[in-house]
Amino acid sequence: MTTRIVTTIITACCFNLCVAAGVVLAAAGFQCATCHRTPDKLLPAKHVKKSDFSTCFSCHSIGRPAPDLMVKLHRNHLHSDTNADACLNCHPSGADGSMQLDATGQRQIKKADISDLAQKMSTWLQSDKLAYAHQRKGISCRACHTAYAEDDPYAEKCIGCHGDYEVMAKKTAQTKLERNPHKSHYPTLKCTNCHQSHDDFKNFCATCHGFAFGWKMKK
Ligand code: HEC
Ligand code: HEC
Ligand code: HEC
Ligand code: HEC
Ligand code: HEC
Ligand code: HEC
Ligand code: HEC
Repeated sequence: MTTRIVTTIITACCFNLCVAAGVVLAAAGFQCATCHRTPDKLLPAKHVKKSDFSTCFSCHSIGRPAPDLMVKLHRNHLHSDTNADACLNCHPSGADGSMQLDATGQRQIKKADISDLAQKMSTWLQSDKLAYAHQRKGISCRACHTAYAEDDPYAEKCIGCHGDYEVMAKKTAQTKLERNPHKSHYPTLKCTNCHQSHDDFKNFCATCHGFAFGWKMKK
């Protein structure tokens, strides 16, 4: 027990010193060791043996040969009421308090924006939100986002996976609703005008029509 605590403290100090010195070490990377000490018990039986966490994300990252662990780790370690502190348990932070998104440190979130990012993460884990419908299919943040900002090309992403209004109108042709929500005189309307990912469904048409459009996640 004592050894465990000591190791944890040493690891934590080591990491802070590196940050204080302004050294961005790939090896500092994700802070798995603060809680797990060694990877022994976490690896599948036939996995290559590893004595520490320093190289995990040189293999386990997008575009790399090994499976992306991101969805799995976010699911396993976070709850639907998560906050910024929980993110920084794992994600390395820069001297300016920014949060590194990947092990290379090339993509960052400004300190002031971390809370919002955490709030969006919590909706990804809340069973009444659209983001959750994607989470349960193993779809991560990255499928819809690049910069985590307003100018992300959401609309193209939705259409890329689901198809455009022509395709969608066919899928909901048999709807029990008063009108087919995907067939209207707004052929280029953004999907997110109704389907908000991190918030409740919004009935865009109701500004002018009395159609009672609602959306409920499939079981
Ligand atoms: C704040 C503490 C904490 C941090 C940081 C942390 N973990 Fe965990 N992790 C846990 C706890 C608690 C569990 C669940 C209990 C257990 O299996 O030990 C867990 C479980 C796991 C599991 C097993 C999940 C399963 O389904 O069996 C894996 C794999 C894992 N962590 C990997 C990592 C990796 C990789 C990192 C770094 C990117 C990391 N953890 C960072 C606390 C942490
Ligand atoms: C040399 C590349 C490489 C490194 C480094 C590596 N892995 Fe893996 N890992 C793989 C490959 C390939 C697989 C898939 C095949 C398998 O299960 O062995 C895998 C599978 C896994 C799985 C199971 C994934 C799943 O979805 O079932 C976990 C968990 C895992 N690795 C954790 C880790 C952790 C934690 C580290 C760092 C301590 C690590 N790996 C380092 C290549 C690597
Ligand atoms: C258990 C460790 C762990 C925790 C806790 C954690 N993350 Fe992550 N996160 C990761 C790993 C690992 C990656 C992928 C790193 C890579 O691919 O190089 C990642 C990647 C990301 C990405 C980048 C996706 C992309 O576009 O590439 C975002 C955004 C993100 N996490 C948000 C969060 C938020 C918000 C929190 C807190 C609510 C959080 N994470 C908590 C381990 C964690
Ligand atoms: C199905 C696609 C999708 C997924 C998956 C998704 N988002 Fe989003 N996100 C959106 C859309 C669309 C918006 C714009 C607001 C809305 O419609 O809810 C948004 C807004 C945001 C914003 C606010 C950006 C801004 O400044 O306008 C943040 C931050 C964010 N998401 C983070 C995340 C994180 C972190 C994850 C993963 C846990 C995630 N998102 C998963 C689609 C998605
Ligand atoms: C990476 C591919 C991908 C992207 C990008 C994506 N989706 Fe999805 N979406 C899926 C999958 C897979 C499902 C689950 C299967 C299904 O119900 O069609 C799903 C489910 C849905 C559902 C039905 C959920 C339910 O369970 O009732 C809606 C609505 C939806 N997505 C809208 C959107 C919107 C809006 C966007 C853009 C902000 C988007 N999707 C982006 C793949 C994607
Ligand atoms: C005017 C609001 C509105 C807009 C805009 C909209 N949808 Fe929908 N969507 C709905 C409603 C309402 C439902 C539920 C239909 C039902 O219950 O019959 C739905 C259902 C869905 C479903 C689930 C379909 C299924 O298999 O049951 C998907 C996927 C979807 N929409 C994707 C999209 C995509 C992609 C776009 C953009 C191209 C889009 N929606 C634009 C209102 C909208
Ligand atoms: C800015 C106001 C406005 C908005 C928003 C709007 N419409 Fe309309 N819509 C009209 C007007 C005006 C007419 C023509 C009046 C008529 O002939 O009843 C019309 C006619 C229609 C018609 C043909 C007449 C009917 O009732 O069958 C349909 C279908 C329709 N709209 C669907 C939609 C759908 C679906 C949406 C949401 C994606 C939508 N509209 C959003 C104003 C709007």
